[in-house]
This record gives sequence, structure tokens and C-alpha cells, in this order.
Amino acid sequence: MPSLGVNIDHVATIRQARRTNEPDPVWAAAMAELGGCDQITVHLREDRRHIQDRDLRLLKETVKVRLNLECACVAEMISIACQLKPTQVCLVPERREEVTTEGGLNVAGNLDLVTDCVKQLQQAGIKVSLFVDPDRLQLDAAEVTGAEIVELHTGAYAHAWMTSAQATRWQHIVDGVAYARQLGLTVDAGHGLTYDTVKPVAAFPEIMELNIGHFLIGEAIFLGLGPAIREMRRLMDEARAG
Ligand code: PXP
Repeated sequence: MPSLGVNIDHVATIRQARRTNEPDPVWAAAMAELGGCDQITVHLREDRRHIQDRDLRLLKETVKVRLNLECACVAEMISIACQLKPTQVCLVPERREEVTTEGGLNVAGNLDLVTDCVKQLQQAGIKVSLFVDPDRLQLDAAEVTGAEIVELHTGAYAHAWMTSAQATRWQHIVDGVAYARQLGLTVDAGHGLTYDTVKPVAAFPEIMELNIGHFLIGEAIFLGLGPAIREMRRLMDEARAG
């Protein structure tokens, strides 16, 4: 069955809206674990708009499942990651003015930089994933960097759900998964996934892990984090089994 990584950044976003101590993403991580997730995912942004350095330290001490740190290819973040030693680092693009991660990492256009970051992280004993669009040029470049994993950006597909673009965007995912596997890369996926859009993605036997945040934290407002995660898990398992 595919692993489920729960991205808890949005809990920190609510806390930072008031610059107080609650809600605490560290507590959310514990609740997410109790809800049955396989991984906690956090993005430490350079502007610290949600996750703080304190959160990372406490998460490293308390998280019992895998810890996946998303960060940009910049010296400060690579240094923090190498000291923290999470289970995995997912390198993502980052622009200050964006609302969320928009588009995948331009690995092909920054090959030397990304390769250097991958090497530093691997030398620190950390598994490295690259968040890329399902695009052959980027997948070829990802393979060259020596990263063992790619997380395919599902945002374009998810946002096209129930529109005329859905079939084309879905085909990009299908082709991207096949091509990445041909290159020998482990394939994960994430961004924009909901109870509806997760099903076709989770059904792919080649996809090892899905990272989901915004939708789950939104559902948690109504259902609680545990029930929201359990429902996502049920839908993923059902799709994979069927
Ligand atoms: N994977 C990566 C690399 C991301 O940057 C994000 C968003 O932070 C996600 C997955 C989760 O996306 P969403 O919050 O839309 O579920």
C-alpha cells in the first residue's frame, strides 16, 4: 500500500497568523501519527512563514514515524537539514511571493546546484527526494543528480479535476511515473490531493508515497485530524487494492 505523509505546515500557518503558541504543529504530528500516517512532512521556508526552527527540533525528538523535511536548495537550509538529520529531505523550489509551492524544482536549469545539495545531504546519511513536474527533461536531470527519489507534482492534475484539462494533465502523471521508473527512480507524489483526486494516484502500484497537507488540515477542522487521515488512508488503500 502507498505510504501517507501528512504535511502539517498549515497548523503552523494558523498559529503564525496570531504569532502565539497554538495550535502546535508538534501536537498535530502526534495526532497524525495516532491517525495512522506513515510520515510527517514539514516545509521550513526561508521566511519562516509557518514552520519554525523550534518546531523542527521538537519534531525530530518526538516523531516516531518518518520525518520528511521539505526545503529550498540554499546553503542555510542544507546546513539545517544536515544537522537535523530527518529521514528524508525533499528539495523544493521556493519563491517568497508564492502562496504555496508552485511548480516543481527546475533541476535541469540548476543541475550543478541541485547535484551539490543532493551530495551534501546524502553524505549526511539523508535520503533525498526532488519535487518535480512530471516532465522528461526534469526527470532526466533528477537522475543525473544522484537523488534516489522524485516526488511528482500532482497540483496541475488536481486543480484540473472535473475540467476539460483533466485527461491531459492525468496523462502527464501517467507518463511521468512510467518514465521515472524507467530511469530507476523511486516515485512519490503530492500536492493538491483530496478525497477525490487521490484515488487514481493511489491506485498506481509504482507510487510509493503520497504527501498531503492542505485538504487534510481543512477536513480536520470539521472531523478532527485522526478521522480525516483515517478516511484518506481508507480511500488510498481501497484504490490500490481495487
Ligand atoms: N509535497 C510537496 C513537495 C509540497 O511542497 C506540498 C505543499 O507544501 C505538498 C506535497 C502537499 O500539498 P498540499 O498541501 O496541497 O496537499
